[in-house]
Amino acid sequence: MNEKKFPAGPVPYVPDTGTKVVKKPPVAPEDIVFDLSLNESPFGANPAVAAAAAARCQLPNIYPDPASDELRQAISRCYGLEPERLICGNGSEEVLDAIGRLYARPGDEILYSRHAFIQFPIMALRTGATPVMAPERDYTLDVEALLDRVTERTRIVCVANPNNPTGTWVDRDALVRLRDALPEHIVYVIDSAYAEFVDDESYDDGLGLVGERPNVIVTRTLSKAFGLAAFRIGWGYGPAAMIRALNPMRGIGNVNAIAQAAAVAALEDLDFVAMVARETAVRRDWLRAKLVPLGLQTLPGAANFLAVRFPTDPGVTAQDAIDHMARRGILTRSMDDYGMDDFVRITIGSEEANGAVADALEDLLAGRSNVGSG
Ligand SMILES: Cc1ncc(COP(=O)(O)O)c(C=O)c1O
Repeated sequence: MNEKKFPAGPVPYVPDTGTKVVKKPPVAPEDIVFDLSLNESPFGANPAVAAAAAARCQLPNIYPDPASDELRQAISRCYGLEPERLICGNGSEEVLDAIGRLYARPGDEILYSRHAFIQFPIMALRTGATPVMAPERDYTLDVEALLDRVTERTRIVCVANPNNPTGTWVDRDALVRLRDALPEHIVYVIDSAYAEFVDDESYDDGLGLVGERPNVIVTRTLSKAFGLAAFRIGWGYGPAAMIRALNPMRGIGNVNAIAQAAAVAALEDLDFVAMVARETAVRRDWLRAKLVPLGLQTLPGAANFLAVRFPTDPGVTAQDAIDHMARRGILTRSMDDYGMDDFVRITIGSEEANGAVADALEDLLAGRSNVGSG
């Protein structure tokens, strides 16, 4: 072999996603009092989950079911869906990633709205496809603007509803308009990770929109309202042909056995999830009512977090607020990698955590006049 013809070692293709997926202010782990940076649930999971997981831990030598059969049956019972149209993933992140790898190649375009969930550009950049952003209206997805950006290269259109990090959402009508206007060779992904939190008749988690269309897929997760983030369980529901094609794109034992057992137990108690959603809404309203009189603007988010806008005056900027809260052991999420430098994303936490946020921001902003609106 001609040594000179080849580089010294393997040359990786490292996509520059331009983002740090997890951004934490500099707080030593032992000083963290409340972590409100990752939209984790403060309610834990229903008690049957820990028991089911512990029981499965007794059989560490046995591989997980590679088809997640029992889990797909449980999802199918809960939501009235056909198991053969379901795929489970190591988090919905894996399902989204598999969709990208299945349908996008260099030169293709993946389309989403300006402040859409950061995994959409990551999914594009990993495959070498081009991420394309459409403008929004009031930090909310604009269907017509998205459709304007569709080209002959568009392969995937991604919608997170509600969206992270804005929390904003669009109604069923908007989702249907987009579905009906998109050509069927373009994959339409509806990421409904926060669906459980939305309590509005005009909202649709998208499952009913999949129907017989060949190109619509909905992704869901047990990381948020179900409180199973540690187990990494997500799922997708789409056309049978798409699910068949997606299956080889995921890891063979991608959802580990303990996670599968935990998820089945979690899906048996939807009352728990309803309680989480109800209580989250009460706490979200409480926090919003505390922040608005301080002159802070909050986006009309429907999920388990608030996107809060800060002034640009020195001393009270979003970064000042992040640092100020961090000094009290409260971690929140900067939104600068979304181009929303004046916003902070704050997870709705325990009552104590939310109170600590309100107190910290009241101290930071004390003395300033009431300049904003909700
Ligand atoms: C909109 C949205 N979709 C998907 C995910 C991924 O969730 P997971 O991989 O934990 O299922 C998240 C996580 O924060 C999210 O905010």
